[in-house]
Amino acid sequence: MAALVTFDAQGRWGETLVCEARVRETLRAHGLDHGRWPLRDPGDGSLEAVLAAYGPELDGLRERLAVRSVDRVSLQPDHAGWPELRRQFTAEHVHADAEIRFFLGGTGLFYVRTDTGHLGLLCEAGDWVVVPAGVRHFFDAGEQPDFDALRLFSAPDGWKAQPTGAPSPELPLLDAFVDQLIGLTGHAMD
Ligand SMILES: [Fe+2]
Repeated sequence: MAALVTFDAQGRWGETLVCEARVRETLRAHGLDHGRWPLRDPGDGSLEAVLAAYGPELDGLRERLAVRSVDRVSLQPDHAGWPELRRQFTAEHVHADAEIRFFLGGTGLFYVRTDTGHLGLLCEAGDWVVVPAGVRHFFDAGEQPDFDALRLFSAPDGWKAQPTGAPSPELPLLDAFVDQLIGLTGHAMD
């Protein structure tokens, strides 16, 4: 399940939310959307089989968000280019298109800038999130990346990241975030 943490402008850990309804309510108040789908048997594991398994749920998002295409990104701990990729992912950026992700497996951490600081959203298998176009954000998958996610696009080139170059306070990246979360809540990681 997802966990959401509020951070102030100095990057201080604030409220920790693990209740799905409260996570969603808080994200919606900042223009984002989030939900969970029941995990389904992915068949032979191919993209086609996964798309078929989650057909009804994906159709709902497709209609609502004018999704034109779907692909899949999977990163494993031994990913050779991860250090460079991680530097790009963790640099604050915006997109001309919404960033829509559904986590099939693993863990990922989104940071979204708000008027008063940041929101940190930890996603696990079954979580989906919509970060609207133009919202400043970045993403981390930790020292050893391990996630498998569908990416849904509504614009052909909208996924291209435009770095903001804006400084952010020091915020805990995925490993430190998870350690802190477990210490506070006993939140069990899949
Ligand atoms: Fe992004």
